[in-house]
Amino acid sequence: MPAYPILLAPGDGIGPEVLEEGLKVLNAVERRFGHEFQYENALVGGAAIDEYGIALRDDTLDAASRSRAVLFGAVGGPKWDDPQASVRPEQAILGLRKGLGLFANIRPVRVNPLLLADSSIKSEVLEGVDMVVIRELTGGIYFGKPQKRWENTRGRQAVDTMRYSEREIERILRTGFELARGRRGKLTSVDKANVLDTSRLWREIATELAAEYRDVELEHVLVDACAMHLITHPATFDVIVTGNMFGDILTDEASVLAGSMGMLPSASLGRRRRNGTGIGMYEPIHGTAPDIAGQGIANPLAMILSVALMLRHSLALEEEAAAIEEAVDGVLAEGYRTADIESGSGSTVDTTRMGTLVAERLAT
Ligand code: IPM
Ligand code: MG
Repeated sequence: MPAYPILLAPGDGIGPEVLEEGLKVLNAVERRFGHEFQYENALVGGAAIDEYGIALRDDTLDAASRSRAVLFGAVGGPKWDDPQASVRPEQAILGLRKGLGLFANIRPVRVNPLLLADSSIKSEVLEGVDMVVIRELTGGIYFGKPQKRWENTRGRQAVDTMRYSEREIERILRTGFELARGRRGKLTSVDKANVLDTSRLWREIATELAAEYRDVELEHVLVDACAMHLITHPATFDVIVTGNMFGDILTDEASVLAGSMGMLPSASLGRRRRNGTGIGMYEPIHGTAPDIAGQGIANPLAMILSVALMLRHSLALEEEAAAIEEAVDGVLAEGYRTADIESGSGSTVDTTRMGTLVAERLAT
């Protein structure tokens, strides 16, 4: 039987609560399909700062590299929010992404027809929304040097650096072209080429690569226009590929389409083996939600759907992944909702009940 070592990094806030439900679903997958997942646990983010004084220990990064996948909750919270602090919870997530070479962040945004009414956007605009946003994850302004602040006679100063190399741009664009090829064949490359040199290089490389992917229709859209189109005609997007910061912002925006951030999973992937799998980190796109942490009302579906992505992209267990996604659809179809997607008609359930419902459905 193949071994499936998985590192669990629950983090802070609602992270541990939703991860618990992800595990429940993994247990159900073990029973139904006869697998055995091996878990190791690690404190990351604020929890690690409290215990060890740093957000990500070398030991944790080593454990992550030894595993097939990392299942990550969320990090951060008001307790560690001091903008002057040199140690911050977010260093855990940035450090894992960089340390594991996870340069491609895949964020699928699908509007479940059952949840059309839950979005603040009109349902006719939302119908048929099914896109994947690919965000470059280990470069750009989040990692460029210099990054610092200082003070001089003119007061406080700070600098961040947006830098991209040809190699970084090419590999993420290829991820986009390949994915678009397996879907509806449309790739939207998002940049700010009217202002930024990094974007002009990005656009140039995208246009060059398009010659190799003639079956994919490539369009270039400026990030500000894209932000608008995501709300005015979201169903026209198939695959969007963009840099680190633009992707960070646009995916939060796109999550509104799905009715709640609590619905959206993500996968962060590095280099792939020939069978398409490789180490990855899987996490809901929502954060730690300190306002509802500890209340047991968080939506665990983004985490549960992240577990499905993990089975698909790191463990090559496609049937199992699809079974989880079907179970989630089934539970929603029966009318069960957590508070964030509650529509007034179905029954509102808490975090653990929602996890149990999905796990039970998988068992049958
Ligand atoms: C995300 C988050 C992170 C990011 C933060 C926590 C550093 O917003 O995954 O989108 O910006 O990448
Ligand atoms: Mg973000």
